[in-house]
Amino acid sequence: MSSSGRRDFGIGVGLGIVLGSGGALAVAAYRGRRRQRPNPSDQGSRSNSRDLRRDLELARARVADLEEALAQQQVVVASVPRGVKRKPVRIWMDGAFDMMHYGHMNAFRQGRALGDWLVVGVNDSASITMCKGPPVMSDAERLTTVQGCRFVDEVVPECPYIMNDAYLRHIIETYKIDYVVHGDDPCIVDGKDVYETAQKLGKYRTIPRTEGVSTTDIVGRMLLMSRSHHRSFDASQNGGDADRGRSPVAGDGHSVASEGKNGDAPQRRKSNFLTTSHMLRLFSAHVVPPNATDEVVYIDGSWDLFHAGHVRVLAKARELGDYLVVGVHSDEVVNAEEGLNFPIMNLHERVLSVLSCKYVDDVLIDAPWIITREVLPLTQPPNPNPNPNPNPTPQGHR
Ligand code: CTP
Repeated sequence: MSSSGRRDFGIGVGLGIVLGSGGALAVAAYRGRRRQRPNPSDQGSRSNSRDLRRDLELARARVADLEEALAQQQVVVASVPRGVKRKPVRIWMDGAFDMMHYGHMNAFRQGRALGDWLVVGVNDSASITMCKGPPVMSDAERLTTVQGCRFVDEVVPECPYIMNDAYLRHIIETYKIDYVVHGDDPCIVDGKDVYETAQKLGKYRTIPRTEGVSTTDIVGRMLLMSRSHHRSFDASQNGGDADRGRSPVAGDGHSVASEGKNGDAPQRRKSNFLTTSHMLRLFSAHVVPPNATDEVVYIDGSWDLFHAGHVRVLAKARELGDYLVVGVHSDEVVNAEEGLNFPIMNLHERVLSVLSCKYVDDVLIDAPWIITREVLPLTQPPNPNPNPNPNPTPQGHR
């Protein structure tokens, strides 16, 4: 239990997620509207509007797919005249996906946009250990995070890190793969490109690697334990108090100020990653508002180093209702609560990871620590019958 009385769940690498105060989960329900007895004469128009809503959702999903494909300017799927059936294009990606981060998720997003179905092979620990050293996360944890990603349709466990000809032919035949996709960083083992066979077969495509993040970089941020990776001016300028986690250190990155746990001197956080609105839009292409009858579930946390425990708790939260809104706390709030060098990932990085989780319908960015009346309306579906009274009585705050 943290000092503020909120519940912390230490999962995975010893970091935790934080559930909302006072009962952990806030469920905004619309039972009043749900219980209204239907008028038989309305039935036709209701099912009609349900159909329309479903059609609208399908159309939105299609528009999102097309936008993503266009954004990559690498449309593999040939445009087919209306009404003509075409075979779905199946994409293969593989990798270690250790300490899965938004760079991996962005790779899935881009790979998925090149076709209709994304199959992801996850390397087994033994072969990763042989080729580049032991992974931090177990096979099961890496599988869970890949499976939890909304851009992934199918997961294949225990894939070898080195993709030899025989294995490549095996996956192309077994999973009916049209294209093998990898980031545009070369993947050379013993002087040979591991995707050479796929290239020769004309079945290889690359996607731009996401700059600013890698598993190695994340492990570096953790190991530093400098309490300074998120601060951006020199400790000497501020009394040389770095060891006590208070004073800022040298750096030239984008930074934000925050106040320490006990009202310490403001800290400055360095971020190597800048989120564009374009990137946010691509990651939230699926987001549609809840329906009027949906039960909306709200859960908040830091979601730092997004891991298998996070995926599992989000799946459970989603099961409690029809629509899941996830609050992501700011760097300042997380640092004030967790101290040390937390969060390892900055707010934008954490938001992208949460948005990529298939159980998440929408994200509240920079969610407040205390869930107040002001937060809940943000998580509610639009009222289809707005109150005609233009001067409603103001409601008191909790
Ligand atoms: N990838 C990416 N952007 C990143 C990191 C990885 O597009 N910032 C892509 C890789 O190009 C590859 C896939 O994610 O297609 C799987 O990468 P993985 O095998 O996990 O290893 P690395 O490429 O070494 O990724 P990292 O450096 O993060 O360990």
